[in-house]
Amino acid sequence: MTEARAAGGGSGDGDQGDGGYGGGVARLMTVDVARNPKPVYQELQHGGRVQRMDGLNGPAVVATGRAAIDEIFKYPDLYSSAAHFGSLGNVRPLIPIEYDPPEQRKYRKLINPVFAPQAIERWREPVARLVHELIDAFGDSTEIDFARQFSTPLPSQIFLTLLGLPLEDLPTFLRLKDGIVRPSVVLGLPPNHPDVKAHQKATAREIYDYFDRVLDGRAAERPDDLLSHLLDAEVEGAKLTREELLDICFLFLTAGLDTVSASLETFMAYLADHPERRAEVVAAPDNIDNVVEELLRVESPVMLVSRFATADTELGGCPVHEGEQVYAFLGAANLDDQDVPDAAEVRFDRTVNRHLAFGGGVHRCLGSHLARLELRVALREWHARIPHYQIRPGTRLNISPGVRSLDSFPMLLGPPPAQDNTSKDAE
Ligand code: HEM
Repeated sequence: MTEARAAGGGSGDGDQGDGGYGGGVARLMTVDVARNPKPVYQELQHGGRVQRMDGLNGPAVVATGRAAIDEIFKYPDLYSSAAHFGSLGNVRPLIPIEYDPPEQRKYRKLINPVFAPQAIERWREPVARLVHELIDAFGDSTEIDFARQFSTPLPSQIFLTLLGLPLEDLPTFLRLKDGIVRPSVVLGLPPNHPDVKAHQKATAREIYDYFDRVLDGRAAERPDDLLSHLLDAEVEGAKLTREELLDICFLFLTAGLDTVSASLETFMAYLADHPERRAEVVAAPDNIDNVVEELLRVESPVMLVSRFATADTELGGCPVHEGEQVYAFLGAANLDDQDVPDAAEVRFDRTVNRHLAFGGGVHRCLGSHLARLELRVALREWHARIPHYQIRPGTRLNISPGVRSLDSFPMLLGPPPAQDNTSKDAE
């Protein structure tokens, strides 16, 4: 999941005309909206839970209510994912996210067992070990950059471990990921600059080459890792081809790293800002599963996903024309009072939490069990060791739109100084 994917492949810069929401979807993809999306989600919902407005690629439809989003997910033949192909510099459709059923279902059947809860459980210990190693590396520092020193390396190191790749490859791995996911930030150029697309394409070629070499290595031996499982997976007697394996690995790199980093960043920013809620997390480590679900709901790291209509239709009373892009604002539905009791309240004791943070329907997040494990272990182990922390005073966090992530998150560790009046900390 990347900003381009979440937003549907558009460049996201520039006003494309006067849609229902003063300037359309482009106006929703800003740092200010990403920092505090709730008021904008509510404003959109007042205009109707489905409405037409200018998208990033022409006239579009925006859904912000649960019923409409469920309908989009229910009819993947009508609301297709296939047209996203190529938005990340890839030369073939990414598996499974750029396929519609029935191909998509065939691939999911093959890959799902590798990411099933029982299969993922064995990674709990290695994940906890990595969390502690990263915290150990802070040494005696009282100030860290949470994004650079924790939330970025953690999912990448976990992924290298899962795939059975050497940890020395971490810098390469991060460079390849950033070259695909945020090429404009890497180059310091506007998203629509021709060099940005060229850089993304060159990085894509490197990614194919990197995984090609790794897969060559698996011909001789099959260590007990995720790649070996994929190599040996079979459906109806058929194994994945080399190209299919590459198209899966490419997607893992773009879908499985930034989303977890973004979740950690937005969750920890919330907990840093709300010491009384943080005290609950510290006091009740066994409630961590509920904490993670509630933070996934209220923070919704992936703001939206999109589809393309394959025929003229109607959604929640709103006309949709063939070929138009349809945006599903997951974050808005997760905060909608019509569907979630006391939606605005953050409650770690909810017994029912049917949030859409992982999407829904056939494309519902393949890595949700792994993501949950990473988030639960990370938050639990962190708070056992570091119950007190705060955003460095005077910092304005720059949350990127699409996937709500931070490049930099200056954090002070330890209790606030006694004279600091902001310490209404109940811990
Ligand atoms: C908290 C972290 C995560 C969040 C919030 C998240 C969110 C999502 C969402 C919203 C979708 C649906 C996309 C759509 O409908 O177009 C999705 C799909 C997907 N996610 Fe995740 N994700 C997370 C972590 C992961 C991880 C760790 C992996 C590991 C590989 C992963 C792999 C995938 C894949 C492969 C798909 C495509 C599934 C398909 O098309 O059938 N995700 N994710």
